[in-house]
Amino acid sequence: MHLSQATWPEIGARLAAGHTGIVLPIGSHEQHGPTGLIGTDALCPQLIAAEAEKRGDLLVGPTFHIGMAQHHMGFPGSMTLRPSTMIATIVDWTASLVRAGFTRLYWLNGHGGNVATIQAAFAETYAAYSLRGEPAPFAHKLVNWWQLPGIEKLCLAEFPVGHGSHGTASEVAVTYWGWPERAVLGQQVLDPKIAPEGPIRDAADYRARFPDGRIGSDPTQATPEAGGRIVSASADALVSDAAAFFAEASPGLAG
Ligand code: NI
Repeated sequence: MHLSQATWPEIGARLAAGHTGIVLPIGSHEQHGPTGLIGTDALCPQLIAAEAEKRGDLLVGPTFHIGMAQHHMGFPGSMTLRPSTMIATIVDWTASLVRAGFTRLYWLNGHGGNVATIQAAFAETYAAYSLRGEPAPFAHKLVNWWQLPGIEKLCLAEFPVGHGSHGTASEVAVTYWGWPERAVLGQQVLDPKIAPEGPIRDAADYRARFPDGRIGSDPTQATPEAGGRIVSASADALVSDAAAFFAEASPGLAG
């Protein structure tokens, strides 16, 4: 079930029956090189969660589309939240869901640059309870989709050379599976074929180090077929990983 396509009585009944977990895709809208879609980091976890929803009894929430991408702002179309804005937004999403009775929030992330901010947001949501001396009635889990069990190994097996760390062959393949008409973008010749590596600082420094936006990758290898294999394995891994988290006992929680 998708939250956006459910009614409130359906969600109320689901919660009353003890199904108090939700999967929340979270990503970013930022340049992904000349062959990658700007929405890649939001679209990958969204596609994987949607596929998992077809295979298991999962509730999937709305995608948190805009993340912390200040370093990509030198490329047109990139959008960012400041860390403080993103933290405040995650705090409000969490409070809304917890008020309704959700107790397990599984955030499936598509952007490495979000991780520090998401962790800080989790700490904000817990601190409100810790400082009052009350048990938090919920728990978060954050998983980068490529770190679902078995997936990093699969991605590197699909693309052993030039997988990279931004505008990666695997994330671009996943989006080409979702939108195969965009796979034509991969016919471009990129120079250099494999992009450079380096540190991530501010937007001007990023643009100077990585002129076409990629880091360490050759995403022209991406195909919809490879993307489909990655989505399928990731969806299966998500179904079991989310089920284990939703069933996890927490000493501070009743039930
Ligand atoms: Ni990405």
